[in-house]
Amino acid sequence: MDKRPIGVMDSGLGGLSVARVLQRTLPHEDLIFVGDQGHFPYGVRSQESVRRLSLAIGAFLEKQDAKMMVIACNTATAAALPALQAQLSIPVIGMINPGVKAALALPGLKQVGVIATTGTIKAGAYQAALKQAAPTLAVTAAAPQALVSIVEGHQTGTAAAQEAVDRELAAFKEQPVDALILGCTHFPFLAPEISHTLPQTTLVDPAVEAVAAAKDWLVTHEALNDKGGRLTLYTTGHIADLKQGAEQWLQEAPATYHQLELEADE
Ligand code: DGL
Repeated sequence: MDKRPIGVMDSGLGGLSVARVLQRTLPHEDLIFVGDQGHFPYGVRSQESVRRLSLAIGAFLEKQDAKMMVIACNTATAAALPALQAQLSIPVIGMINPGVKAALALPGLKQVGVIATTGTIKAGAYQAALKQAAPTLAVTAAAPQALVSIVEGHQTGTAAAQEAVDRELAAFKEQPVDALILGCTHFPFLAPEISHTLPQTTLVDPAVEAVAAAKDWLVTHEALNDKGGRLTLYTTGHIADLKQGAEQWLQEAPATYHQLELEADE
């Protein structure tokens, strides 16, 4: 048994789509969430900048005595997963391999799409992982970065959100894919709009497999908590923004909010 919290990070509210799966799957775990809204969006930053910020957050989470780090951000996974695994003494779980695994588990998959931030797509992280695991699979990758701001700006469920999804995903309407990997943790919050635009396409949220991997590790290492469920949330931006997202998307739980200043050069 290990009562220490699980650390979770993202550039913003997207990480809450992973935190909600953690809450559902591991309800007795305490979570420490860092939303780096002060440096949002990660998707248009250089790999080097995202790596530095992610390493600073990793160091902070380890200092908070986290027993594991979940990078609830595909952009940070693409830029910093090996660096975080090398720097931290705790296990670090990323999003990209779980996303690929979840997609490849779908029966009869011939055409897969992946949507992610500009940084993730430019890094080629999903394309490379898919090619390695399934060399003959047709992959269409796109970077609808504008959709990240729709979620971060609390506009999900609005006509503007639907219009943005229709516009940004028009290519998938013209050339449909069997499944679409939501390769940015902000995108699961737009799942209703995306399904409305692409009703025939199966949406893949990598969070489910990523959290399954986290659970597996905790079970194997006898490191589950039996009596937690508290949330501690930090933001480098505005607490009100993070609170609004957490109250909308997370299960009700004892929660505290804090301001964080990161010691990282950008
Ligand atoms: N939610 C993040 C991801 O999964 C990053 C979004 C951004 O800051 O551009 O990639």
